[in-house]
Amino acid sequence: MADSTALKFAPRRSPFRADYELQWHSAPLPDQAGTRAVSQPGKTLILHGIHSFDLQRAILDHEGSDRAVSMNAADAGPIRNLPEIAKVYFLGGLDDRSGDPSDPSRIEEAHLSSTLAWFRCVKALLDRDQDRELEIVVLTQRMHDAPGTTAVEPTSAALHGLCQSLSRETPRWKITLVDVDRASLESESKRRELLERIAREPRQSFSSVVYRGPHRYLPAIETVNLRDAMPGAIREGGTYVIAGGAGGIGLTISELLARNYHARVIWLGRGRSTKQSAGKPQRLSATDCSALSPGDIADWRQMREAWIA
Ligand SMILES: NC(=O)c1ccc[n+]([C@@H]2O[C@H](COP(=O)([O-])OP(=O)(O)OC[C@H]3O[C@@H](n4cnc5c(N)ncnc54)[C@H](OP(=O)(O)O)[C@@H]3O)[C@@H](O)[C@H]2O)c1
Repeated sequence: MADSTALKFAPRRSPFRADYELQWHSAPLPDQAGTRAVSQPGKTLILHGIHSFDLQRAILDHEGSDRAVSMNAADAGPIRNLPEIAKVYFLGGLDDRSGDPSDPSRIEEAHLSSTLAWFRCVKALLDRDQDRELEIVVLTQRMHDAPGTTAVEPTSAALHGLCQSLSRETPRWKITLVDVDRASLESESKRRELLERIAREPRQSFSSVVYRGPHRYLPAIETVNLRDAMPGAIREGGTYVIAGGAGGIGLTISELLARNYHARVIWLGRGRSTKQSAGKPQRLSATDCSALSPGDIADWRQMREAWIA
């Protein structure tokens, strides 16, 4: 192991925290119908997939077929030529098929019809409506592990990050992510009920909400004490190997392990980001705790050599 790359973390006065978790809190819908109305006139655009539980029909009924236009999200081109739009529904994150949602080929396929399709639609919308007020509702299915979730479906998870970044880059767009389960979509009356609930959601620049049965949940990032929450999960004075330890997240985790658990941390990496980390001297001073083992984790031979070293 190369000693020259040993890291030292400066002592901090307060306990260092990097252990957070996402919690979902029950939050009944505020009793204020109509808060989602946008000030600009325009049609409602419904972007659906081929497995969207036919929710587009329910939206057309809900909005009025003369005030809404529905199209397949996989073909974003015509968006540029539509008349004025005030509201957009994206349904590509829904999937009415049965079977294993964690099947890799299904995830790959879903990536095309959800995240990639939404990315293309967003580009078309940006071309025409970047500076206009737009209300956007993106539906996902069992993406979050909120109470009442039997199994998480990873297929549309990337929509969350994309929508969050989008809301920061286009402040005039108000984006609501609504995570539902199959039970909210399987009958006509349930679909109607779902749309009525969504219509009552307060309009913010970005919000993420989960519906499970009659319950509504909002997210909160909370600190956790790992020693209490998972006793024994991290060993005091243990040795931890982190692939990508010299990157942003790896450095933070390394610091947590070194400061709070006096652990020794070994980074695996190709050596590109170590140079950048070495340029952050304020975080690298007092306690000798880490070392770098060079290696590309995609290369079996390099990994074997790193392990032996
Ligand atoms: N930062 C965020 O807010 C965030 C949020 C969600 C998810 N993530 C994901 O979390 C991961 C880490 O994020 P980050 O912000 O810490 O990224 P980062 O700063 O770019 O760090 C990535 C680290 O992985 C190492 N690495 C990349 N390819 C490697 C390979 N083939 N073999 C060995 N090491 C390799 C890099 O080192 P070398 O280049 O030296 O090999 C680097 O140290 C990424 O996958 C990112 O997409 C990040």
